[in-house]
Amino acid sequence: MSLWSVLSSPVWGAGSVLLILVLLLRLSVQIWHKFYIWDLQHCSTDLTGKTAVVTGANSGIGKAVSQELARRGARVILACRSRERGQQALAEIQAASKSSRLLLGEVDLSSMASIRCFAQRLLQECPEIHLLVNNAAVCGFPATLTPEGLDLTFATNYTGPFLLTNLLQGALQRAGSARVVNVSSFRQSHGYIDEDHLVGAGRPLAFNQNYDCSKLLLASFTGKLAQRLQGTGVTVNSVDPGVVYTKIMKHFSWSYRILFWLLSFFFKWKHGVLTTGPPGTSPTPKLLKSY
Ligand SMILES: NC(=O)c1ccc[n+]([C@@H]2O[C@H](COP(=O)([O-])OP(=O)(O)OC[C@H]3O[C@@H](n4cnc5c(N)ncnc54)[C@H](OP(=O)(O)O)[C@@H]3O)[C@@H](O)[C@H]2O)c1
Repeated sequence: MSLWSVLSSPVWGAGSVLLILVLLLRLSVQIWHKFYIWDLQHCSTDLTGKTAVVTGANSGIGKAVSQELARRGARVILACRSRERGQQALAEIQAASKSSRLLLGEVDLSSMASIRCFAQRLLQECPEIHLLVNNAAVCGFPATLTPEGLDLTFATNYTGPFLLTNLLQGALQRAGSARVVNVSSFRQSHGYIDEDHLVGAGRPLAFNQNYDCSKLLLASFTGKLAQRLQGTGVTVNSVDPGVVYTKIMKHFSWSYRILFWLLSFFFKWKHGVLTTGPPGTSPTPKLLKSY
């Protein structure tokens, strides 16, 4: 049987039409994003002399934000859980921003022990911190307990940033004028607060509602901390980035990921920095001391 007769059978025919449509759609996405450039708002504020800490800086929004801060002259601490992914991101950000003021710190935000360790080393290196961006988060995980008995999603998205911010509060206040930015999500409106969720108990959650609830807790923490720090020179803010084509869906099933990929036509999508680029010839990055 010839290839053509196989392809022209009803099943293969419909399948190939679908495949061609998907490929055409994907191609148009590529072309669209080549001409429609979404970019961070370039701001002329010079950040020389300022120290910024960005969690989840090796990917997506955290990587784009780190690059922009570095471009403006800030010393940026890339707080990443994987040294390898962090090193690669650091090399790419260094090449793009021409900054030599980047440091890599290893921290797993789902582990309170790792956060304490990271904060201790960070404070030795940077006694004053002007900007803390609590950006790292996970999405799409089922209920899972960490070795410390915390729910993985809540620990990464809420308990971890809560602890890190509190541990760095002194350094933020010492800076004189500082800002905490908690990266939130529009999904928080689908969440509710039940503190038992933090330890894997509490009222049952619908699919991915752990993400929504964790983001709501983060927003609530933002408001409370902003009130508490009034008059100290530290402001606390929450930002919803909108829908951005990043690796945020990587823990979802393939069907959700394909849908996200197809719909990416309508999302913010920045070339080069949001997605991981090709491995470069990276100089050995400077690490926070004593790993
Ligand atoms: N993309 C969107 O449409 C969207 C919409 C609303 C809000 N947001 C928020 O934007 C923020 C950034 O997400 P993104 O879209 O840029 O996703 P992303 O590309 O998946 O980036 C998430 C970052 O968090 C890090 N991370 C995850 N778990 C961690 C842990 N336990 N310890 C340390 N780092 C950890 C990841 O590190 P690894 O690479 O090692 O996994 C990665 O660097 C998140 O807070 C997300 O909720 C995103």
